[in-house]
Amino acid sequence: MNLHGLATGLWEELRDAQFFPKGSRAGPGPGRGADSPRGARGSAPARRLPGALKCGASPPIIAIVRRMQLVELEDLPWMPAAIRDGGTDLLDLGFDRLGFYRGVVPKLAALLDRTGRTQVIDVCSGGGGGALYAIRALRDEGREDVRFVLTDRYPNEAGRARVAARSDPRLVYRDEPVDALAVPAELDGVRTMWGALHHFPPEAVTALVASMVADGKPLAFFDVAASPALRRLPGALAPLMMGVNMTALFVGSFFLVPFVRPLRASRFALTYLVPLIPALVAWDGTVSAIRAYAPEELLAIARAVPGGDAYDWDAGVAGSALYFTGCPRAA
Ligand SMILES: C[S@@+](CC[C@H](N)C(=O)[O-])C[C@H]1O[C@@H](n2cnc3c(N)ncnc32)[C@H](O)[C@@H]1O
Repeated sequence: MNLHGLATGLWEELRDAQFFPKGSRAGPGPGRGADSPRGARGSAPARRLPGALKCGASPPIIAIVRRMQLVELEDLPWMPAAIRDGGTDLLDLGFDRLGFYRGVVPKLAALLDRTGRTQVIDVCSGGGGGALYAIRALRDEGREDVRFVLTDRYPNEAGRARVAARSDPRLVYRDEPVDALAVPAELDGVRTMWGALHHFPPEAVTALVASMVADGKPLAFFDVAASPALRRLPGALAPLMMGVNMTALFVGSFFLVPFVRPLRASRFALTYLVPLIPALVAWDGTVSAIRAYAPEELLAIARAVPGGDAYDWDAGVAGSALYFTGCPRAA
């Protein structure tokens, strides 16, 4: 996507998300104001909502509208692996150092206990961050029988190396790409996802949850939570907030890179010679915060999928992490 395309897309996202008032004259130019209409061309409305959220009279309508589905650079298929992996490795390290998931691992343990399952299928594993943290925490509790299978649409080389370094016979990283929306039937177990739910727009979360409910699978998803303060931020301050956040992440990346293992020359070159990894971390980290879901949005989606009423759903925030679990009531 060229710079003009990116700027236009960003503007439309900000406008559609009501960060700017309808009819605002600020923006890339004529024909791009609030009345210029992606919707009026007869295409899908600019912001599609899951049916339940559109029909319900509940507050999630506002919250969902304010969440923006901007593009993360690591999701672009043409992104070179050295840059994508460098970025996900850094985000993973940041989360690990902060003990970000400490408060939510008990949710996974409880789901394993309740369902009697011992296999966890982790999707969107990236560099392994959350899943590797969880398996360490479960082993520390003496749960030696739990087996983790890590998967990703773009399997992360350093993540696979980290898994191999653990020499744990019940921990594997699958070589073949696995799309979270089309997980092969043989990968059976409690489905987990760490730090990636925000990559999926509400329609895809609905599809994801619906497919698991149709198969009667338990799920435990963990992520960054939507910040209530950010959701209340006056629209005009959004670009300023994004700028501050991006600067902090860009600069912070230079300090974190030496701590990432295994060491890679490409990671150093793409940080200190041509800072493409800090640029990716700055953009993706900021967009992640904007795309994050609130617990009540996920519960609204879950309860609306066909068969969702046969599940026990739970969502909330523990520490700073969002948790969202679903268990077939029959389990
Ligand atoms: C933020 S990163 C991974 C975070 C990692 N799970 C952790 O705990 O730190 C998001 C990952 O999701 C993967 N991803 C995005 N969309 C996907 C999809 N539809 N199917 C599988 N993986 C996907 C990306 O390749 C990327 O590795």
